[in-house]
This record gives sequence, C-alpha cells and structure tokens, in this order.
Amino acid sequence: MLFIAFITIWNFSYEKGMEEGYVPVLEESPNNSYIPAERGVFERSEFALEYSSMPVDKNHERSLDSYYDNRAYHGAPPSIPHPIKEEKSLGGNTCLQCHQNGGFVERLNAYAPVSPHPEMVNCRQCHVAQNSNTLFKPANLAQVHAPKVGVNNAMIGTPPMIPHQIQMRENCLACHAGPAAPKEIRVTHPERVNCRQCHLPTDRIVSEITPFTRTNSHKNE
Ligand code: HEC
Ligand code: HEC
Ligand code: HEC
Ligand code: HEC
Repeated sequence: MLFIAFITIWNFSYEKGMEEGYVPVLEESPNNSYIPAERGVFERSEFALEYSSMPVDKNHERSLDSYYDNRAYHGAPPSIPHPIKEEKSLGGNTCLQCHQNGGFVERLNAYAPVSPHPEMVNCRQCHVAQNSNTLFKPANLAQVHAPKVGVNNAMIGTPPMIPHQIQMRENCLACHAGPAAPKEIRVTHPERVNCRQCHLPTDRIVSEITPFTRTNSHKNE
C-alpha cells in the first residue's frame, strides 16, 4: 500500500513539475494565428530534420534545365513525363502515392518530385500527359523568363531574396529540399523551417521580373 501511495504521489508531483514544459500550442487560438499567406511555409516542416540529414544522391539529381524543360513557361504546371495508370481518372490518391512524400521510383529511375499542393486532388485538371511532341507549334507570344538564381542577395553571405511569386509556391520545402529538388536550388538549411523569417519576396509583378543582379557577382558568369 505504502509503495503504491509513494508511486502515485511521486507521479502526481512529477507531472505537476513538468506542466510548464508542456504548454500546448493551440493551432487555431486567436492569439496564435498564422498570417494566411505564410501558413504554407510550415506545411512540410515535420520532415525538415530528415531532409537535412539525407545524403545527396548525385546520380539522380535534377537540374533547373530539365525542370524548366517540362514547363510551357515559368510557373506553368509541368506536364506528366510518365505513363498514367488510369487514363480516365483525374489522379487524386493514385498520384499522391508517389507525389505526397516523394521517394525513388525504380521503373522511372528517378525521384518523384513532391507536390507543393497535395490538397488539390484533381491533378489532371492542370497537369497533362506528354502525348506528343508535334501537336503544338512555337508561337511568338512574349516569354516570361525565369529569374536567375545565385544572384539574388545584396551581399555575399546574406539571404537571397525570393525571386519568384509566392502564389502556389507557399510550401517551400516541397521544391527546395529532398532528393528531387533541382540541385541549383536545393537548400543547405532545410531545418530552419521558417523560411520567410529571413527570405523576403521581391515585390515585383511577374511581367517585370528581371532579377536584381549584384554587379560584382562572379557566380553566374
Ligand atoms: C509510381 C510513382 C508515381 C505515380 C503513381 C505518379 N508519378 Fe508522377 N512522377 C513520378 C516520378 C518518379 C517522376 C519524375 C520523373 C522524371 O524526373 O523523369 C514524376 C514526375 C511527374 C511530374 C513532373 C514534375 C516536374 O517537376 O517536372 C508531374 C507533373 C507528375 N509526375 C504528375 C503525376 C500525376 C498527375 C500522377 C497521377 C495521374 C502521377 N504523377 C503519378 C512518379 C509517379
Ligand atoms: C489548379 C491547378 C493544379 C492542380 C489541380 C494540381 N497542380 Fe501540380 N502544379 C500546378 C502548377 C501551376 C505548378 C507549377 C508551380 C510553379 O512552378 O510555381 C505545379 C507543380 C507541380 C509539381 C512540381 C513541383 C516542383 O518540384 O516544381 C508536381 C510534382 C505537381 N504539381 C504535382 C501535382 C499532383 C500530384 C497533383 C494532384 C494531387 C497536382 N499537382 C494538382 C498546378 C496544379
Ligand atoms: C513550385 C516550386 C517552388 C516552391 C514551392 C518555392 N520555390 Fe523558391 N525557387 C523555385 C525555383 C524553380 C527557383 C529558381 C528561380 C525560378 O525559376 O523561379 C527558386 C528560387 C528561389 C530562391 C533564390 C535562390 C538563389 O540562389 O538565388 C529563393 C531564396 C527561394 N526560391 C525561396 C523560396 C521560399 C522561401 C519559398 C517558400 C515561401 C519558395 N522558394 C517556394 C521553386 C520553388
Ligand atoms: C536564419 C535565416 C534563414 C532562414 C530561416 C532560412 N534561410 Fe535560406 N539562406 C539564408 C542565408 C544567410 C543564405 C545565404 C547563404 C550563403 O550565401 O552561404 C540562404 C540561402 C538560401 C538559398 C540559396 C541556396 C543555399 O542554400 O545557399 C535558398 C534556396 C534558401 N536559402 C532557401 C531557404 C528555405 C527554403 C528556407 C526554409 C526552409 C530558408 N532558406 C530558411 C538564411 C536563412
């Protein structure tokens, strides 16, 4: 009896003592609401530590060249470069099998890029399969060029500004971390999580994007 009483009392006072350490962070409490536009930044943060300890697989890296190659213009939805199981489905869960968290796909000899928007389940509303290389002809519509990377910081060692729009790009880690991230933009510090604490968007509208260039930049020459 004494022993049980001892355990109970000890346990009670131990938990009392720990209470301070376990103040629950309430997701939706009015004093703790995220700025809606910044919320997506935290979406994949539970994987941040895993990303930072992952070894880089040099043999299967993507580059920005092949990344842009699969898009009609900067910011356009990429086409689907692989066969699709069910021709008539919109995708949903079948696509998310591979694109929710990524991973290596033996058959395609590549890592599946993580979707920055797993909540938009009608994938094929926007992503079309590559059925033909001849159906569409180049037009003389004005091209929106992608901003350059490696030249977006004011001084060497300072955080580069975000040279792209944030719309549909709220979820930073989906594109900037993990084995499917293009090597030029894979972040060295995925574990910092709150990306926009240090990285500010350049306040330009898309058609104006000619990136700020550091005149003494040696990187992209
Ligand atoms: C078996 C796993 C798997 C499934 C299922 C799958 N994908 Fe993929 N997907 C991949 C892999 C791997 C790549 C990368 C291919 C490459 O780089 O050559 C890829 C590439 C893509 C890309 C190009 C991304 C980019 O950044 O260029 C799109 C878009 C895409 N898939 C959409 C879809 C859609 C939509 C579906 C559902 C109809 C789907 N995928 C189902 C594995 C999969
Ligand atoms: C409303 C349209 C829309 C829907 C629906 C949609 N996407 Fe996308 N997706 C886009 C656009 C636009 C981009 C390019 C974003 C950018 O480059 O800023 C993109 C980019 C991607 C990428 C490339 C990420 C990277 O590394 O750049 C993948 C993978 C992807 N989508 C997968 C999916 C999957 C899987 C689904 C369904 C679960 C889906 N998408 C639903 C519009 C859509
Ligand atoms: C859909 C994929 C995608 C998402 C999501 C995304 N980015 Fe990017 N980011 C890119 C690409 C691609 C580039 C290269 C320039 C371009 O094409 O826009 C880039 C460039 C950058 C650069 C410039 C890097 C350099 O070396 O100059 C920074 C900084 C950056 N992004 C930060 C962010 C932050 C912060 C977020 C989250 C709010 C974010 N990105 C979300 C794809 C993405
Ligand atoms: C504490 C401030 C801070 C936070 C938080 C932060 N960064 Fe950075 N980031 C920097 C600095 C400083 C550099 C420049 C590093 C250099 O030049 O050596 C940088 C560089 C980069 C680059 C260029 C490539 C590289 O890794 O050097 C990208 C892309 C980037 N950050 C994306 C991100 C993303 C995505 C997040 C969120 C997961 C993030 N950053 C969080 C400070 C930060």
